Amino acid sequence: MRALGRFPTTRMRRLRRTEFLRRIVCETSLHANDLIVPVFVQEGKNLVTPVVSMPGVNRHSIDALLPIAQRCLDLGIAAIAIFPVVEPSLKTADAKEALNPSGLLPKVVRELKKRFPELCVITDVALDPYTSHGQDGVVDPAGYVLNDKTIEILAQQAQIQGESGADIVAPSDMMDGRVGAIRKRLDDFGLQNVCILSYAAKYASNFYGPFRDAVGSKENLGSCAKHSFQMDIANSNEALREVAMDLAEGADIVMIKPGLPYLDVLRRVKEEFGAPTFVYQVSGEYLMLKAACSNGWLDERACVLETLISFKRAGADAIMTYFALEAAAWLKN
Ligand code: PBG
Repeated sequence: MRALGRFPTTRMRRLRRTEFLRRIVCETSLHANDLIVPVFVQEGKNLVTPVVSMPGVNRHSIDALLPIAQRCLDLGIAAIAIFPVVEPSLKTADAKEALNPSGLLPKVVRELKKRFPELCVITDVALDPYTSHGQDGVVDPAGYVLNDKTIEILAQQAQIQGESGADIVAPSDMMDGRVGAIRKRLDDFGLQNVCILSYAAKYASNFYGPFRDAVGSKENLGSCAKHSFQMDIANSNEALREVAMDLAEGADIVMIKPGLPYLDVLRRVKEEFGAPTFVYQVSGEYLMLKAACSNGWLDERACVLETLISFKRAGADAIMTYFALEAAAWLKN
């Protein structure tokens, strides 16, 4: 039962009067532990290429990524999530480069785990960086993404990532049944301890544009949308069904994506299942804040930290955000 307060005996402002009182009644906290750094990697040597559509975000060659990994550890960040930028010449309709054990992503994972075994490496299980049409799966002649064919490939992709040392594989594609297919394949290959972070409720959002630019899938995708597999932005009961299915299929962690426009979904999922629940503050959300702050219209540090604490308050256990390194540095001092 909620205690009913009555003025003037009860004065809510009493506990807001001083900094120490506000601190001892504070309900939610934010730590570097709560942050996951998404990074874009590319082939090459000593390359740090700015992503034009995401000021402050770069694509790194493997050697140039190592100092970032070191910085994560220095700041107390536990996990890094790798997104590959695949050479256009390697993109095919069937995404076969996704299954190349000597491809860019497995190389990055091996290198990171060799140098920084204490850093959690999360890999993206999805075909869009590898397909010539930019879709998250193989398509039929009409351009429809084929579910069952795609999940076979995703399971193999996850196995290769697991074998290269990924601690967590993260299917971000929204095919039905892929968590079960991935879990089975991992287990069949002796990878029982590789965790699955499922993008369980991923919406067909308009906030992914800058990311598609960053991984170079935007032009390939053209005007084709992802509404036939990502969720309708208007739905939230459906998110609960998606999460229930992924947990039943063996997901260890579920993700809600995007973040701020979907705090209600995050809250419902956390309350309903109590499972480890992550949220992705996506590229368009990053860009909105960056744009406003670089114009001097908003205070970057204060506003970014406010969004991150909001995710925690809504129930997130961890937050994937392009602000992770900056935020961790702010939290340190
Ligand atoms: C696709 C994928 C997307 C993002 C991560 N993985 C975009 C999409 O669904 O087209 C978006 C992340 C962001 O916008 O920051 N597998």
